[in-house]
Amino acid sequence: MSRKPNFAIDGPAGSGKSTVARELAGRLGLLYVDTGAMYRAVTYFALKTGIDPENEAELDALVKDIRFSLVIFSKNRTVNLWCNGEDVSPFLREKEVSCQVSKVAAAAPVRKHLAWYQRRFARAGGVVMEGRDIGTVVLPDAECKFFLTASLDVRLARREKELRAAGKSWTKKELCCELTYRDEMDRKREIGPLKKAPDAVVIDCTNLTVEQVIEKMLESYGGG
Ligand code: DC
Repeated sequence: MSRKPNFAIDGPAGSGKSTVARELAGRLGLLYVDTGAMYRAVTYFALKTGIDPENEAELDALVKDIRFSLVIFSKNRTVNLWCNGEDVSPFLREKEVSCQVSKVAAAAPVRKHLAWYQRRFARAGGVVMEGRDIGTVVLPDAECKFFLTASLDVRLARREKELRAAGKSWTKKELCCELTYRDEMDRKREIGPLKKAPDAVVIDCTNLTVEQVIEKMLESYGGG
């Protein structure tokens, strides 16, 4: 059987990566991997165990103790992240996790460990992996690379809708601070910053529906 392609999708928070990546994976019969969830999971455990999100040595010890697995529910095509046999998905969108995750994601040992897992998930091909450094660092040889962007207003509106649907209440101000702070931290960190890979196709999703973004991706994939 021929090897299935890997798709790398990067972009800032709220650019629409998750929705599009999940839908694309479903249509092509590939595995959807949300790498942001892995950084959020490490943050959740750090907060739970009282580890300072800026203490690299403690984060190093913590992350080495976490076994990540992807549990696929074929019925509704969801993929949940489990850590050491526990489904951590319900905790990953907590306010405190969202506010601290960029600090944890800047720690070199955390990035190294998670990138190792992410490459393992993709080694046989057939993943749609979304994050910040997938096309540049984690899967530089991915067959298809996309970098999604959208205006700040649209990204804020998307996040607000997402959080409302999840029953979480954030004020507009809190949301704006969280999003712009995370973007800045993600862009300026030394290792694996949020950056477009030179060979990634940029899609501005500001005025596009999910369907239109998927169409562009499939066009680019087919024509590549
Ligand atoms: O995609 P997300 O918003 O759930 O990601 C949460 C945080 O994780 C984000 O602020 C940056 C970090 N992250 C990262 O540094 N590298 C990735 N590949 C994915 C996410």
